[in-house]
Amino acid sequence: MTFLAHPRTALVLLGVLFALSRAAPTDVFSPSSTIACPRIPSIVRVNTTLLAFAEGRHESCSDGSPKSLIVSRSTDAGSTWSEPEILVGDSKIIIGNPMPLVTSSGDVLVQYITASGSAVGDANYMIRSTDGGNTFSAPVDISSFLGDFVGIMPGPSSAVELSSGRLLFAGHYGPYQFDLTWWSDDDGLTWTISDDKLEGMDEVAVVELQDGRLMLNMRTNHLDPCNCRAVAISSDGGETFPEITYDPALIEPVCQGSIVSVNDALYFSNPNSTSARVDITVKKSVDDGATWSDGELIWADAGPGYSGLVGGGVSETQGGIVFERSDDRGDVISFALYQL
Ligand SMILES: *[C@@H]1O[C@H](CO)[C@@H](O)[C@H](O)[C@H]1NC(C)=O
Ligand SMILES: *[C@@H]1O[C@H](CO)[C@@H](O)[C@H](O)[C@H]1NC(C)=O
Repeated sequence: MTFLAHPRTALVLLGVLFALSRAAPTDVFSPSSTIACPRIPSIVRVNTTLLAFAEGRHESCSDGSPKSLIVSRSTDAGSTWSEPEILVGDSKIIIGNPMPLVTSSGDVLVQYITASGSAVGDANYMIRSTDGGNTFSAPVDISSFLGDFVGIMPGPSSAVELSSGRLLFAGHYGPYQFDLTWWSDDDGLTWTISDDKLEGMDEVAVVELQDGRLMLNMRTNHLDPCNCRAVAISSDGGETFPEITYDPALIEPVCQGSIVSVNDALYFSNPNSTSARVDITVKKSVDDGATWSDGELIWADAGPGYSGLVGGGVSETQGGIVFERSDDRGDVISFALYQL
């Protein structure tokens, strides 16, 4: 009765509760009749369009399932997403590890591998969009540039254009063998691969720091007692990495992670746990990764745990994250906003 007697108070209360509760994440990719299992998400922005990429695993969630490169687009800051489109693949071959990059000219490049199993790929390819991600070129085989390291598995997360204009990708060669970078100084026509192996490393995220140095942030198989992410810094545009260190603030359960730079800060996402793929969290650093915030919890429940970050421009105060979770449909890739 008190409630009915004060409808205005009740409405105000409801409004406050709504504002306090986190907006439910939006589905980007979910299981369908053609794609049993979407996995390995990444996200970039071109002007006001968000582009989410993933592997569309046709038969099962297994790494070795036939899989295609899929994309979904949002033009309303992630509120709604288009029907997934297969960019490359025919539901028989294995296409893996999409790693997108938006260049300063607005082109969207996506590199990926073709494979016959789940370890090292057979070849490396790239597609390019010059119309904001609406359409993409036919695949270009870039394997010949990668020498002994053909099949190196990009990211997964997004690649970077350095302030020098260099386009830089990073990847891992086989499980926990080594990571390498490769780059183009001619807008993606030709590529050069490093021979400075980061031994024992696996999936890798890459970001340019405020002072122009380059950071790799890497998954390991708990190589260090901190059970945390491995970090390597390059002062020569990503060509050499003098040492690998470990960042105890960035704990991990052995999983992929993502990192981006927005204005004067870095943002890092992964499952915030040393033992389980739970608690996908976005942490912030305002000192080039020397220290990190406790972070913002995005999704607590257990799931496959991979994520991809996009920085500014989603809104003034928010960035976007695509992340893997599980529900009664199977594995789902969702989108949520995080605070900058
Ligand atoms: C992005 O916006 C700029 C400035 O309005 C415009 O020149 C450019 O064509 C846009 N790019 C795409 C891919 O739509
Ligand atoms: C992340 O994990 C650490 C260590 O358990 C914890 O102190 C911190 O509060 C966690 N962050 C969030 C946002 O829950």
